[in-house]
Amino acid sequence: MKKRIAIFASGNGSNAEAIVRYFQSTGTAEVVLVIANRSEAQVLERAQRLHVPSVSIPSSEFRQPERLMPLLEQYRVDWIVLAGFLLMIPDYLVKAYARKMVNIHPALLPKFGGKGMYGMNVHRAVVEQGERETGITIHFVDEHYDEGEVIFQAKCEVLPTDTPEMVAQKVHQLEYRYYPSVIESIL
Ligand code: GRF
Repeated sequence: MKKRIAIFASGNGSNAEAIVRYFQSTGTAEVVLVIANRSEAQVLERAQRLHVPSVSIPSSEFRQPERLMPLLEQYRVDWIVLAGFLLMIPDYLVKAYARKMVNIHPALLPKFGGKGMYGMNVHRAVVEQGERETGITIHFVDEHYDEGEVIFQAKCEVLPTDTPEMVAQKVHQLEYRYYPSVIESIL
């Protein structure tokens, strides 16, 4: 049976789009639902364009199992993929999707993880600290932020002349290249 994936995202959703497109072309799994915690998130428009059902759920309601679980059951969601999702995952969801929920972090964890380390903050810190390499970490989600078991990492070089924006671009390329196929390999 084809595995059914829900993607959780908070913003732009370029990774979400890459994942949807990947599985639309391989047919090895299906993204059946996109959930955003902000109604103005760009990812919702992307989902619509890609003909994937999407829903916006206010951040406060994520803590309510009775809001999320029936939806995930209705769409028969087997796996949850976080792609730029900035909200802490509540315990009941971590438990319900133990080893069936993955996240991507735009750095080489355990470096540059934890509180406040998201989006451009990560790339700024990498440049400020004079790192010579950075990359991506794909990991299972557990109850500790950015600490779940690492599934995959890939690296890229950081040049002394790189700006945080240039680093972000390199990291994004790694994300698009690897996230969909790493998900496929663990389903
Ligand atoms: C990505 O860099 C991802 O690693 C991080 O948030 C960013 C989301 O970008 N968790 P997008 O919304 O997929 O364009």
